[in-house]
Amino acid sequence: MSKGKILVTGGTGYIGSHTVVELIEAGYDLEILDNLSNSKIDVLTRIDELTGISPKFHDIDLLDEAKLRKVFEKGDFKTVIHFAGLKAVAESIKEPLKYYENNITGTLNLLKCMEEFGVKRIIFSSSATVYGEQDNPCCVETMEVGRKLTNPYGRTKYMIEEILRDVAVMDPEFEVTILRYFNPVGAHASGLLGEDPNDIPNNLMPIIMRVAAGDIAELSIYGNDYDTPDGTCIRDYIHVVDLAKGHIAALEKMKRGVQVYNLGSGSGVSVLEMVKVFSKASEKPLPHKMVERRPGDLAVTYADPSKAEKELGWKTELTIDDMMRDTLNYLEKSAKRKKEDGKQSCKTLD
Ligand code: NAD
Ligand code: UFG
Repeated sequence: MSKGKILVTGGTGYIGSHTVVELIEAGYDLEILDNLSNSKIDVLTRIDELTGISPKFHDIDLLDEAKLRKVFEKGDFKTVIHFAGLKAVAESIKEPLKYYENNITGTLNLLKCMEEFGVKRIIFSSSATVYGEQDNPCCVETMEVGRKLTNPYGRTKYMIEEILRDVAVMDPEFEVTILRYFNPVGAHASGLLGEDPNDIPNNLMPIIMRVAAGDIAELSIYGNDYDTPDGTCIRDYIHVVDLAKGHIAALEKMKRGVQVYNLGSGSGVSVLEMVKVFSKASEKPLPHKMVERRPGDLAVTYADPSKAEKELGWKTELTIDDMMRDTLNYLEKSAKRKKEDGKQSCKTLD
């Protein structure tokens, strides 16, 4: 049976690009849609370098309904994997309307096109953030979500989950898979793909990378007075390639109705431990200082990934050491690439 074509929204982004590589390697035919608001066009060249395939690319904003319809008119898609969205928590507090418009209206436009063109399968990038504050830090899919959310970004994820549930009620043929990611870090082992946000980052690993590259003087650790063994917050970090593979597993097990899966490792690592492992891997101490807690941070949160293992046959394989090794390799290779690009543009100027 043909696997059918996939539309990957946000496919030049961090998680999207790694998933595109895994999809191509698993034999899927796909097209990418992205407005490049947080990614760069040369990701497409690297996807080609890695896979020998250059998927059709649509430089389109999900908010542009007319252009989106044209993509669906020609696309003949069977499935949508929906990564596109804004994800900076702090920015979402400062600019909530931008987040609601981009994430919610963007998804509504996508779903309207899917309905119109009879595309009834969607995998959605949700987040551990929908669990909010729970009595138990080990998040299970059966927990009530959407309570005590601390920022508009998290609320958009929760609201989209609810919209998808309504769509599945409207049309029982719809197949919706919601993947709740924990903390994705790392890079492709080739060093060709990794996390390269267009703006100043606010997640831990991209900041560590900027400190290591000398762009930021030191890492500020937000709080060392939490009720954890070393006082710093604990999270469930997952290698982005494991996460990408989770999408292939989910795709192969899609079914009618709504399925929800945590994609995480099941174990927690503290901020200070992350700093230590990174310093060991880079053989250099990472400059850091302790500062005040960041408002809205939970002390400890990690996934119970057993449902994904049982139903999708998926579990994480890569370790924190792998995450650090691949991050460093990506840092080194991208610094080299930037240097070469600089030389190239000097030549052009000559
Ligand atoms: P990313 O910013 O690297 O990728 C998102 C991509 O979507 C970007 O390339 C951006 O240009 C594109 N985009 C944004 N708005 C768009 C629009 N209106 N139209 C078209 N393209 C648009 O982020 P990522 O880390 O790869 O995250 C992918 C998804 O996973 C996001 O939905 C994010 O919220 C979710 N998620 C990420 C994390 C994380 O820590 N990285 C954790 C949980 C969930
Ligand atoms: N941290 C620091 N210093 C920094 C940045 C982060 O100490 O400069 C700490 C945070 O306080 C937290 C940990 O590092 O304890 C991880 O922080 P991130 O911002 O990397 O990740 P969060 O767990 O806060 O949230 C991330 C995404 C959310 C997503 C969530 C779960 O930002 O969108 O993971 O997937 F929902």
